[in-house]
Amino acid sequence: MATSQSTDASASKSSGKSSLRMLAVMDMANLLRHIFEYEREMIRTATTLVYRVGEPELKYLLCQHIWESAQHARFLRERGREMAGFGSGESVRTEIRKIFEEAVKPEDGMIALAGFYRVLKPALLKSYRYYLKETDHLADWPSKQLLQEFIADEERHASEMEKYLEGVEAGEWVSHMKTALSSIGGLLEIEEKEDLPAGFVWKHEKEGYSHPPVCSRGKYPVCSSVFGHNPDEDPIIRPWLEEEANTDAAVLRLMIYVWLMMEMDAVDYLATIFYDTPEAPLDMHYDMARHLWDESRHSQFGFRQLPRLGVDVMTVEHSLDLYCILVQMPAPERYAMMTMEFEAGSFPTKAYLIDRIRELNDFEVDTLLAFDRNDEQNHVRYGHQWLKPLMEQFGIEAEVGDFVKATQKKFEEFAEKFGGKIPHSLSPEERLTGNKIKKIAGVN
Ligand SMILES: [Fe+2]
Ligand SMILES: [Fe+2]
Repeated sequence: MATSQSTDASASKSSGKSSLRMLAVMDMANLLRHIFEYEREMIRTATTLVYRVGEPELKYLLCQHIWESAQHARFLRERGREMAGFGSGESVRTEIRKIFEEAVKPEDGMIALAGFYRVLKPALLKSYRYYLKETDHLADWPSKQLLQEFIADEERHASEMEKYLEGVEAGEWVSHMKTALSSIGGLLEIEEKEDLPAGFVWKHEKEGYSHPPVCSRGKYPVCSSVFGHNPDEDPIIRPWLEEEANTDAAVLRLMIYVWLMMEMDAVDYLATIFYDTPEAPLDMHYDMARHLWDESRHSQFGFRQLPRLGVDVMTVEHSLDLYCILVQMPAPERYAMMTMEFEAGSFPTKAYLIDRIRELNDFEVDTLLAFDRNDEQNHVRYGHQWLKPLMEQFGIEAEVGDFVKATQKKFEEFAEKFGGKIPHSLSPEERLTGNKIKKIAGVN
């Protein structure tokens, strides 16, 4: 211990000589820093794909990859901070940010997806491999351990995404993104910087990115809301969730699976917050990436279990209201509604449903609901931790409590204005409703 302290002390006396002594470390730390910033931007911008692609399985996969990127970024930061020259801040250099600002630009989410997975992710994998090849495996063993795992993750990401990219005609955009990346000398900025060809236009410089007013659900039927009072029209009947109704547990089980599947709306609107918060600390994006992945798992609970219980998911309309309303509000208001209102407010109803559903002795549903509840408690905790810093990023000085109250009021106004606009894709005869749920559950 004493030795290392005295080394630090002499290092600070003659930093010039000291940097020369540490050159091998600093060179590698510089590469690691580039990869760290690149992963950070990946989290911030790949999230814009989530609500623009329609296929639920693809949304789920993206959420999982983004969560893994967040873990990579955090490990890189921890390792980087052990190395001289990595720097203590978390900011991203302009050159790297510029590439990702460009990457989000295509209006078609699948074209943007191709840019990420055919250019940006392969460049990341290449950089991880380069670092591993260049570094001394014994001296830099801690980095080596991490990078081997990240390389395996990135290889898996590439193969998991393959089937979604099949048939996507994105040649022009892919070469545009390759050109953009080459112009900064690649991810690590160590390759020859190639001049931009005549006529190359940075699309993001002409017009900034904005979230679409409606999220995509591809071929799946949609509607404004799945909660209602009419069992011939709506699938989740509010009064049936009340204790007094004493609804059959098998009906409640189906309804809660529909409810869980609808957490896809949380996936879509939470995904919008990352891009809007370029100066967020990594730990905020890390918790939000976890939150995002959790919601995608909750939605999968419903999406996978409903068919097993006899529901055709093509008859289950997806509710889009919350996305449509929240995307009109600034990021801190979106996050406040999500964590302080919807999530914090869902516990009592869900508690009753969990208790009732236990009557069925269905181990699987009990497990899924227990984990859902556990995750939701964490989400409310994230809300308490991050809402204030998020407000500060937007220059909002109000007390959190006052801000939440004002946001609730604004949400009601915005719900009037922007809600209820999505017509039913299916007729009442075609779509899943409360009465059909009863029938499927075998209840009269
Ligand atoms: Fe959830
Ligand atoms: Fe949640």
